[in-house]
Amino acid sequence: MRVAHITDVHVERAPGVGELFNKRLAGAVNLYLLGRHQHFSPASQSALVKAVAEVQPDLVLCTGDLTATATTAEFAAAAALVAPLRSRFPWVAIPGNHDVYTDESVGRFARSFGPTAPVRVHAAGGWDVVLVDVCHPDWLSRGWLGDAGLADLEATLAGGTAPVLLAIHYPLRDRRGERYGPSTRACIDAEAIEAVLVRFPRVRLVVHGHEHHGYRTELPRDGDPIASIDPGAGGYAHLPERKRTAHFCVYELDGNGLSAVERYAFDGERFVPEVGGAFQSGG
Ligand SMILES: [Fe+2]
Ligand SMILES: [Fe+2]
Repeated sequence: MRVAHITDVHVERAPGVGELFNKRLAGAVNLYLLGRHQHFSPASQSALVKAVAEVQPDLVLCTGDLTATATTAEFAAAAALVAPLRSRFPWVAIPGNHDVYTDESVGRFARSFGPTAPVRVHAAGGWDVVLVDVCHPDWLSRGWLGDAGLADLEATLAGGTAPVLLAIHYPLRDRRGERYGPSTRACIDAEAIEAVLVRFPRVRLVVHGHEHHGYRTELPRDGDPIASIDPGAGGYAHLPERKRTAHFCVYELDGNGLSAVERYAFDGERFVPEVGGAFQSGG
């Protein structure tokens, strides 16, 4: 099975005046007054959709931050952007912290990109794709699964035998393989989630987003570490002078596990296989 993984597309549309309340005001100031919106580009975003379609995946998996401040206009634009993928390929998505700025945006995400739940399983190609949604409206952008979600995750993993690809927005480990550290903008029960995962040998691969500069690391497990992959932001502008561009990954999954990883990088016009192989270019 071939899974295309996109994340952190960050479609941006300025909020209407009526939408400038609570947390979104801080997000909009960051984005439009402090210039963060120059980090993402419509050229990358439309090339991303074209490139993913060319890969002919068996499944498109999105790990969130499709929008920047979860405005009505952003949800509409992001839904239109990915519509050609959703109409041609099986698609699953979980929200990122940017998609759940307000309570109403939680429902809007589900209407725009499909159902979401703390723990949801999508069976495909002999695998269980386990989608873990830890994002909630929160001033500090903290994510959590919570006790009920952790119990649900454990029961889900105990209830099957197929190999598991687990998708989550926030990293469980940083790029050095250490615990992912900040007290905000992180999943506060990441350690508890990992403690559940490592008890189940059928968990073969963890994928996430949130960190816009992608990386591959491992979750330690006795003699059998779990690969952990973040492709990097799929909507990043092409800024080679800053060693920054958009990426996505393709995973080849067979009965034994992850057999190959391809990573594609945006060269300013189109996505091309990363020079030297996945995560070898330093980009
Ligand atoms: Fe993001
Ligand atoms: Fe994020």
